[in-house]
Amino acid sequence: LVIVVDFGGQYNQLIARRVRENHVYCEVYPYQKAWEEIKKKRPQGIIFTGGPASVYDENAPRMEAAIFQAGIPVLGLCYGMQYMAQTLHGTVQQATAREFGKTVITVRNDSPLFQGLAARQTVWMSHRDYVAALPEGFESIASSANCPVAAMQNKEKKLYALQFHPEVLHSEHGKEMLHNFLFAVCHCTGTWTMANYAKTAVADIRRTVGDGKVVLALSGGVDSSVAAALISRAVGKQLTCIFVDHGLMRKNEGDEVERAFQSSGMNFIRVDAAARFLGKLAHVGDPEAKRKIIGEEFIRVFEEEGRKIGAVDFLAQGTIYPDVIESGAGDAAVIKSHHNVGGLPAVVDFKGLIEPLRNLFKDEVRELGSELGLPDYLVWRQPFPGPGLAIRVMGEITAEKLDILREADAIFREEIVKAGLARSINQYFAVLTANRTVGVMGDFRTYDYTLALRGVTTTDFMTADWARIPYDVLETVSGRIVNEVPHINRIVYDITGKPPATIEWE
Ligand code: XMP
Repeated sequence: LVIVVDFGGQYNQLIARRVRENHVYCEVYPYQKAWEEIKKKRPQGIIFTGGPASVYDENAPRMEAAIFQAGIPVLGLCYGMQYMAQTLHGTVQQATAREFGKTVITVRNDSPLFQGLAARQTVWMSHRDYVAALPEGFESIASSANCPVAAMQNKEKKLYALQFHPEVLHSEHGKEMLHNFLFAVCHCTGTWTMANYAKTAVADIRRTVGDGKVVLALSGGVDSSVAAALISRAVGKQLTCIFVDHGLMRKNEGDEVERAFQSSGMNFIRVDAAARFLGKLAHVGDPEAKRKIIGEEFIRVFEEEGRKIGAVDFLAQGTIYPDVIESGAGDAAVIKSHHNVGGLPAVVDFKGLIEPLRNLFKDEVRELGSELGLPDYLVWRQPFPGPGLAIRVMGEITAEKLDILREADAIFREEIVKAGLARSINQYFAVLTANRTVGVMGDFRTYDYTLALRGVTTTDFMTADWARIPYDVLETVSGRIVNEVPHINRIVYDITGKPPATIEWE
């Protein structure tokens, strides 16, 4: 185990992922809580993240200085380095100018951190403060034109620090440096794999659940699907999955989810609630009102089904690590809200919460899913909003409009897959606009819907760029949709990024 101490840096999760890429398990804790966890868990190594503060700020993040005496190797990054230097009585000063961007440094490759690496290399710098005088027992092991101590070490005490960001890909050999810290300094074994994770998690779930009953709301999304597969492997029929089919899924999706789970040895309940949802949504055009109705109805259906099962001991959720970190790791369980409206627990009487993915990043969840034998189309599913196609039919929803959209969307997705673009475009879908325009088909005038196609590339879905789908792919899609789907006579491609637009249209 390695513990990443979060000093508020924007790269905290990235550092954790880099560590895990080396098959070394790590956890991220805010600096206020980290020392307690470190004492309890005795990690093999500690990494300090960077952060926006200066060590001279009044409220600069600090932690127990005992951390440096614990005999555990520490790697300080950026602010983490300055914090280490100042706490150990070196001097940190503010430079007149910020050093920002790609910077060439010269390293001493007799340091364990830089072993096997080129002496001159490019790294990513982003700092104003710098270490002007080394703490006692430390030596400088790298420098740049503007920064005499770009890295430092106290080999005997196993304390290391880098002024730059090895976790960012712009740092040419950053990955190797982290690798060196983990293996040459911390002597990690690198045996953390999803296969092992699955084994441990199954044992943990069995111990927690005993002979109790577990219920899980399955949406067909990656997280809830993988959680279901894992818990099912642990406790089989004691798990009941409730799949509320709100009739707002994409083409064939409900059947695919059912097929993937029904035969798997868990109790799987598919509730066909399409008519019910459509009824509630009739004549509702406002996007937020639609979301709210769907969220509330979802909970009501889930609650009714839950009551049929009788007493339930545990509620399972597919919470993943980024949610946990963002909420301040170690705090009371994060309750993932469904469809962004309300949570389930208030309506289900249960003893405890089971969140077997709460330590995993998204890519790890996918890997675990494959490990558990889930089909690729579930494991590699793109994100799909809880309210489903309801927010992709602009304005009022009808069964007919949903059908039109489903057909068009299926063609678009099929052609993207055929063109080999499925994994490079992070989310892509069709939107049925409320706009009708005049067209001509054969000898007839038409007056039909405009369909919009949307494709984005993004890593975090907070910002996104529109995907450069090749013209010939767009042409095939457009030709097929107007020919195969009645009531669409015009197709447009959305070329706005986020911001200023959002990914969804509503
Ligand atoms: P926006 O449209 O806000 O979408 O740029 C960002 C990501 O979130 C998804 N999304 C939702 N997911 N309930 C969800 O569970 C919602 O109400 C919702 N709205 C948007 C969207 O698909 C994209 O991946």
